[in-house]
Amino acid sequence: MTAGRGLLVAIEGPGGVGKSTATALVTRLLKSEGLPALATREPTDTDLGNLARHGTDEYQGEAMACLIAADRFMHGEEIRPALERGEIVVCDRYIASSLALQCMDGVDQEFVWLLNERVIQPDLTVMVSGQPDVIEARLAARGAHSRYERADGSSHVECAYFAEAAKFLRKKGHRVLGVDASHVPAEEVARSIVAAIVRLRKDHQNHDAGRADVQLEQSVPGARGEAAPVSGAAAGVGAGADGDGAQRGV
Ligand code: TMP
Repeated sequence: MTAGRGLLVAIEGPGGVGKSTATALVTRLLKSEGLPALATREPTDTDLGNLARHGTDEYQGEAMACLIAADRFMHGEEIRPALERGEIVVCDRYIASSLALQCMDGVDQEFVWLLNERVIQPDLTVMVSGQPDVIEARLAARGAHSRYERADGSSHVECAYFAEAAKFLRKKGHRVLGVDASHVPAEEVARSIVAAIVRLRKDHQNHDAGRADVQLEQSVPGARGEAAPVSGAAAGVGAGADGDGAQRGV
């Protein structure tokens, strides 16, 4: 991370868990603290993104994985300049969604990774989770967005795939924060995410200034724990085995 560079934060998790609300609230809170923040989402609101978003019945498996990855590479054209301006880019769905949903669609995890390892890597992946029954009820209330959410028990399956995705990303050295949103108000979820982002930002600033890279590790209990989501404001952040966190590939 070089001085003045922003952060890319991915908000991930199964359908119905509250990702888009969290993205909006986190961005608003960051701005209210005077930090430059940009909310975005995937698939993007472009022709390519809309093809993916509305084409989940038509496109499946490897074809969908490639479509989503192409949209993600294009999204980099918006994300990269924002990061260079020092902004905190908060993205509703990113690589973990592909690892979960495309693998759920039968695509090999390594193939999904191959498609994604050269996109801009997130500095932090926030894995919003919840009890599958609670999510299922929310999903039933808001209606399914795609075929991934239509099948009975889809939330149980999705939760398991997102947990796998978290494990996979950790092994790749990504920083993953688990937040259990089952019985926690959306504002509290957002505040705990913002607290982690602010700590990470300070950590990067200290690192850039040549000081010890210890702040995040000290301030978050269980920092190297296995994605075990914790309710409410407490959350576990795990970097890779080397503790160096995510590296952004461009
Ligand atoms: P949603 O965010 O409104 O639930 O819809 C996003 C749609 O795009 C949903 O059908 C899932 C799909 N999608 C993937 O399959 N993989 C991905 O990596 C992303 C970002 C989205």
